[in-house]
Amino acid sequence: MKQRHFGNSGSEGVDGPPHKLPALNTVANPVIIDPRVVDTVREHTVMLEQVDPGSTMIFLTLKYDGDLLRFKVGDKPKELKRADMIGFINARGSSAFTAELAEKLYRAGRHDLKPDEAYKEYGSMLPPSYEELCRIKDSDKREVGFLMLVHVDQDLRGLGMSGRLLRKTLEVMRDKFHLDYAVVYGRLPNLSNEYASQQEADKHLQEYVARKRDSDGMHPDWAVRFHQHAGCQVVCGIPNYSDDKASFNHGFVGVYDLAKLRAERRI
Ligand SMILES: CC(C)(COP(=O)(O)OP(=O)(O)OC[C@H]1O[C@@H](n2cnc3c(N)ncnc32)[C@H](O)[C@@H]1OP(=O)(O)O)[C@@H](O)C(=O)NCCC(=O)NCCS
Repeated sequence: MKQRHFGNSGSEGVDGPPHKLPALNTVANPVIIDPRVVDTVREHTVMLEQVDPGSTMIFLTLKYDGDLLRFKVGDKPKELKRADMIGFINARGSSAFTAELAEKLYRAGRHDLKPDEAYKEYGSMLPPSYEELCRIKDSDKREVGFLMLVHVDQDLRGLGMSGRLLRKTLEVMRDKFHLDYAVVYGRLPNLSNEYASQQEADKHLQEYVARKRDSDGMHPDWAVRFHQHAGCQVVCGIPNYSDDKASFNHGFVGVYDLAKLRAERRI
């Protein structure tokens, strides 16, 4: 995926997301062999917050805050030093969606409509692409929160680090910007493992988005699941949402109901 599609660039640190986004399309399973390492990383992680109420831009970074840690990820040696970046998130308020549309989408996903039906009903009202969503910045008219990019170090995935970033971001949207909904245009990187051709993926997009895995009813695609873990309601597929090879350029729209998450004490 081209880096420009994820908006901000900047040097690594609290000034903005890192300029390079490593391994965006990689789906290698993260395997930290020693479970004590997992505990240590989880315990010694700090969040740095950069929130600009004027522009509603939210940028959070997770950094390692413990002693030097040497461990293996699979058979690859890895070293974690104090202040190393574990992950980051980039989000803001946006007028690209009205709160009314976000509410309808949320309800459609939760109760009423299957993804193909929801897309038929609301597809024409949705911004057609991720790029377009990123361009709409008139923050004074913001009605919803917009989650732009979440990224976790490739070797530290599967530890719930994205959940910490999402939870804090949704809290800020609720408490500082007083928003009721947050919207995401997410990736479907497992689509290219599932279908051999673009044509097949195009044909089955909404059906793919509707899938649930047997074990817990969550979506089989990890890039959908990390949003679901944080309380996201998946609504429908967005054809050609961005230049994203692993997803055959297709994505999904998901909505977070911030009042509900607060009532459930999830944020
Ligand atoms: C998507 C991403 C942010 C998830 O972060 P994370 O901290 O690993 O998320 P979680 O720990 O909650 O993992 C969620 C699930 O996905 C799985 N998972 C996460 N990353 C995975 C990967 N690269 N390959 C396979 N499974 C993965 C986890 O095992 C977990 O599975 P479970 O639901 O069965 O428990 C991270 O994989 C990433 O940075 N990917 C590249 C950037 C990207 O695609 N961002 C999303 C679009 S903005």
